[in-house]
Amino acid sequence: MIWASGWRLVSAVSNAGGLGIIGAGSMYPEVLREHIQKCKAATNQPFAVNIPLLYPDLDKHIQVVIEEGVKIVFTSAGNPKTWTNYFKQHGLTVVHVVSSSKFALKAQEAGCDVVVAEGFEAGGHNGREETTTMVLVPAVANAVSIPVLAAGGIATGRQMLAAMVLGAEGVQVGTRFVASEEASSHINFKQAVIHAAEGDTQLSIKKLTPVRLLKNKFFKQIQEAEARGADVEELKQILGRARARTGMHEGNLDEGELEIGQVSALIDGILPAGQIVKNLWDEFLEGVSNPVKNSIFSGED
Ligand SMILES: Cc1cc2nc3c(=O)[nH]c(=O)nc-3n(C[C@H](O)[C@H](O)[C@H](O)COP(=O)(O)O)c2cc1C
Repeated sequence: MIWASGWRLVSAVSNAGGLGIIGAGSMYPEVLREHIQKCKAATNQPFAVNIPLLYPDLDKHIQVVIEEGVKIVFTSAGNPKTWTNYFKQHGLTVVHVVSSSKFALKAQEAGCDVVVAEGFEAGGHNGREETTTMVLVPAVANAVSIPVLAAGGIATGRQMLAAMVLGAEGVQVGTRFVASEEASSHINFKQAVIHAAEGDTQLSIKKLTPVRLLKNKFFKQIQEAEARGADVEELKQILGRARARTGMHEGNLDEGELEIGQVSALIDGILPAGQIVKNLWDEFLEGVSNPVKNSIFSGED
């Protein structure tokens, strides 16, 4: 995750038994190199790097990932055909993020090893079709033969179990880790996440690049512009430069772009990342042994 997943969060997740993913999208190539090196020093466990495929420094990011011997890459926001072969030639496992079965099939055809089916609930950039995780995961699991990870709206072990029941073999968790001690997100943003309620996020900037945002002053400015029919150029102007940094990294809650998922409504504390992984796993196991809470089925009174 941009402005959240630096080496501290990533190594903490990997040390706790998850697979931490460095968010290269907010890093210059040399900053990415530094985070990879620090991550290697902080954990012996596997970790990955996410490379959004639409960034200007893309080829430099890719060279850094290969030179540093990273083993797993998560690609997103672009065409998997362009780079998957190149990664595979260098021995990397390639995971691609999709928002539809159609894109999942394209990722499989491009040679990706795994797909992340990311539903409409998710924080950050999102599909235009607005397909929810509940619908997308079984659809993608039916469409492809490679493993599927579910993303979007998962912050508890029971949600993780539900995703598995729907056909996922694992989950990608975003929003929950923004509200972690190790996330590089600004404390104001973390506080905003834990105070968010149902309905406080919405998919926005759909004409330009759909992204789920916390409803703040900047969000309202975009909404007003879209309502009066602003074109892509005007939206680009309003967005300007470094909005995401202003909000998520510098903590300006009015002027910044605050990317976060619907599941923020279920999160009420900033926890160490290792504790979050443990909670997910404990709740998951509790759910496995007692999957149906409804008393008719569970035999409780
Ligand atoms: C603050 C933030 C930044 C994100 N940045 C990226 C990114 O750079 N690349 C990417 O592929 N996904 C990004 N995502 C999406 C996450 O990787 C993940 O798929 C998503 O958060 C899962 O849904 P959830 O937020 O409901 O857990 C971001 C999400 C958040 C909340």
